[in-house]
Amino acid sequence: MLEEVIAKLKESKKIIALTGSGVSAESGIPTFRGKNGLWKNFRAEELATPQAFSRNPKLVWEWYNWRREIIILKQPNPAHKVLALWERKFPEFYLVTQNIDGLHQKAGSKRVIELHGNIWQVKCTKEGKIFDNFEVPLKEIPPLCPLCGALLRPNVVWFGESLDQSKLSQAVELITECEIMFVIGTSAIVQPAASLPYFALREGATVVEINIETTPLTSQVNYFLKGKAGEILFELDKKLNSIF
Ligand code: OAD
Repeated sequence: MLEEVIAKLKESKKIIALTGSGVSAESGIPTFRGKNGLWKNFRAEELATPQAFSRNPKLVWEWYNWRREIIILKQPNPAHKVLALWERKFPEFYLVTQNIDGLHQKAGSKRVIELHGNIWQVKCTKEGKIFDNFEVPLKEIPPLCPLCGALLRPNVVWFGESLDQSKLSQAVELITECEIMFVIGTSAIVQPAASLPYFALREGATVVEINIETTPLTSQVNYFLKGKAGEILFELDKKLNSIF
């Protein structure tokens, strides 16, 4: 099966990888669903909605500050590294991620569309200006805009909010044109990201899913590679190098 995927990869021009939190699991960052998932221990509606933020910005920021404290210590794993390598190997390789942890960029990826934002960016709630912010722990919770003093929010997409439309349409365009799409470490249930592999399938692209367990997408894909993202991608890259 790996050989077939490699053969397809080699003959493809436009290649997409859609990633979810499972790709960062081997770096030690908790996923959302599953046994020890964040949504098992925390209530999304109290922490990741615009209503929660207007009710209690301090609580929401304390939670994001805690997540930033975890993420800052983590390093990219072989999954992030192979995907960063593939960007250099294939001129039309693009990454679309639901992750906000920035580990793809830390591994060296540059062509990354972050559908759900980035935890290392903050946004002014008054003027919408976005700033990079790597302060860990945050000196002031909730943090305030350095320019106008208004409340800052994490530049991430919360439940009930729309995704950045330009990022989404860019992702859809790339995906409808791709010849092969990898769907890695996502439960494939959160919309609209969960629909993206179907655009590729509809256009006749080969879709390869990499996950430790099956998802609602699994029965539709051309190849399901069961296992840890870091291990499978490492294996694929090794085989690719031996015949590239
Ligand atoms: P989920 O937590 O829903 O799913 C993680 C997926 O990764 C599951 O299918 C696991 O089986 C798989 N997985 C775990 N470890 C893995 C490993 N080592 N290798 C491969 N797969 C592994 O996370 P997402 O699908 O990313 O949104 O969740 C989507 C969105 O829901 C997130 O972006 C977040 C969340 O609510 C927002 O916050 C807006």
